[in-house]
Amino acid sequence: MNRLSALVFSALLTAGLLITVAEAAGDAKHPEAIDWSFKGLFGMYDRDSLRRGYKVYTEVCASCHSMNQLRFRNLSQSGGPEFTATEVKAIAADFTVEDGPDDYGDMFDRPGLPKDGFVNPFPNVQAARAANGGAYPPDLSLITKARSGGPDYIYALLTGYEDPPLGMKMRDGLYYNPYMAGGKIAMAAPLLEDLVEYTDGSAASVEQMSYDVVTFLNWAAEPELEERKQTGFMVLIYLTVFAGLLFFSMRRIWADKH
Ligand code: HEC
Repeated sequence: MNRLSALVFSALLTAGLLITVAEAAGDAKHPEAIDWSFKGLFGMYDRDSLRRGYKVYTEVCASCHSMNQLRFRNLSQSGGPEFTATEVKAIAADFTVEDGPDDYGDMFDRPGLPKDGFVNPFPNVQAARAANGGAYPPDLSLITKARSGGPDYIYALLTGYEDPPLGMKMRDGLYYNPYMAGGKIAMAAPLLEDLVEYTDGSAASVEQMSYDVVTFLNWAAEPELEERKQTGFMVLIYLTVFAGLLFFSMRRIWADKH
């Protein structure tokens, strides 16, 4: 073995050791890569999945988690769940929103309108903590970007609840989840088989509901994804055509030089 290959060999060995050490230190299980419809160069959001995902969020997660970046009218914008304007009106009207003050200086409740923001389940952080054993359910508007592993991690978290390993003590109000750093999370498994009733005939398995709600959360965090990919694709076509033109004009220019 010459000196160079010895050097490369020892570098590889060190890298391998470092990776092993890092894995042993981070005790959270690594999430599996999911085949999202929005992955890859041509990936798009699956409209039906987005709609089902909205249903899961609003019927399950919204009792604890806010999504402060969303307004009801976003649900009809292109590239999203694309509910019709009439559907969005009906969705918003199902919520009660505080408005005011009126002419007497009083606040009053009214049905929601498309321009209103998603309704927060708790009036403030303290109330949210008090209702959740001291833990704060984070706002989910940007959660797929806020966590390393993104959508794969959230999917793994939602589907990954298990019994704690033998000998691990769980304090009241904590649940074992190998994907959470430390293995303990203050959120009980939020999804159970058939918890929501899908109207499009899809089976409401924990996996399906998780896939749908994470698709919805990813759209909330990245509503411009489809537009960005379309632009990227057009740029690619442009560059290809441009490179082709350049190639043929260069050939002509250089043709008489030989
Ligand atoms: C009963 C209340 C409750 C419901 C319902 C609920 N959660 Fe949670 N969630 C919590 C609390 C409390 C935490 C904070 C846990 C912690 O910090 O240990 C949390 C944390 C999370 C986190 C962050 C995990 C992390 O890495 O820090 C995500 C993501 C999440 N919830 C998603 C969801 C989704 C999606 C749903 C609906 C399918 C849902 N939750 C339903 C209470 C709830």
